[in-house]
Amino acid sequence: MSAPLILGIESTCDETGVALVRGRELLGDVTATSMDEYARFGGIIPEIASRAHLEAFVPTLDAALERAGVGLEEIDAIAVCAGPGLIGSLTVGISAAKALAASLGKPVYGVNHVIGHLAVDELVDGPLPDRFIGLIVSGGHSSILSIRDIATDVVELGGTLDDAAGEAFDKVGRLLGLPYPGGPHVDRRSRAGDREAIRFPRGLAAAKDRERHRYDFSFSGLKTAVARYVESLEGGGREVPVDDICAAFSEAINDSLTAKAVAACLDTGCRTLVIGGGFSANSRLRELAAERCEAAGIALRIPPLRYCTDNGAQIAALGAAAMRAGVEPSPLDFAPDSGMPLDTIVARSR
Ligand code: KG4
Ligand code: ZN
Repeated sequence: MSAPLILGIESTCDETGVALVRGRELLGDVTATSMDEYARFGGIIPEIASRAHLEAFVPTLDAALERAGVGLEEIDAIAVCAGPGLIGSLTVGISAAKALAASLGKPVYGVNHVIGHLAVDELVDGPLPDRFIGLIVSGGHSSILSIRDIATDVVELGGTLDDAAGEAFDKVGRLLGLPYPGGPHVDRRSRAGDREAIRFPRGLAAAKDRERHRYDFSFSGLKTAVARYVESLEGGGREVPVDDICAAFSEAINDSLTAKAVAACLDTGCRTLVIGGGFSANSRLRELAAERCEAAGIALRIPPLRYCTDNGAQIAALGAAAMRAGVEPSPLDFAPDSGMPLDTIVARSR
């Protein structure tokens, strides 16, 4: 018997993603985004995002079904992001998922978007190991997780005390006058810069923080250090070396992320590190993680770039993992949860 066919629906932020997954095979996925509408505001406007999901959902669903070569009636279950995310955006995706579930008579899994960033790696690199460390790096999260089963057993070891890595990149991009969202622009500019040119601080690396905050991050002091540096140059009428600042800033963030993730692997005896989330597209993160994992004898898994940003495949992959693990579907009254905790993988009644 072939594995169940899962329809995955993503709508946490600006991307409307729909994907079809059978077992660990991605049959088709299509993503629409309303990001272009926010450049002039310098940030996402939730009401615009909700309306864009409403407009994009049916065409995106139709396109994904066509790409996968399957009909709605063949679907065995529906997975949808239940959180964390923008409440209006989540509501559109969840309403669509519940309507489909009711009309098709199929179960629905309201899954955790952030955990989906790791689950999607199964579609590329095959089954996840029995135990591994997950490093989630996105616009909203920078967290280190200890995972025994992606669908049932996730424990947060630590996370950022203030800004997430992607958020810090976006803020520094803004203060350097780069377009929104700044992350990819800071990354691009950093490649032309000298990462040794400036030494920016590493948060929570001091001896006194090393035990209590062993797996935590703090990036707001770093962002302030960059702001002060730029101010002092501008105040003195000197040129701002954007490429070098981007490179040195990127090095500080990625040094903390990779050092702490590798430490978590070594401390727990996990031999695999999986990195996921929008920020895992960052070129220096990929390079430094590869170097440090190799030196420590740790297998590194990072999904290819197209699965790092939000997409329906991550939701379908986690729905498929939940079914495989025998997890009960969500009750039909589950609600969107803008702050869904990382250890809640499938939504329940509230
Ligand atoms: O996971 P994601 O798509 O959305 C959330 O769930 O938050 O992550 C988006 C974040 C944004 O902050 C974006 O600027 C950042 O990831 N990002 C990057 C890169 N690509 C995306 N940051 C640094 N370098 C990149 N190449
Ligand atoms: Zn995301």
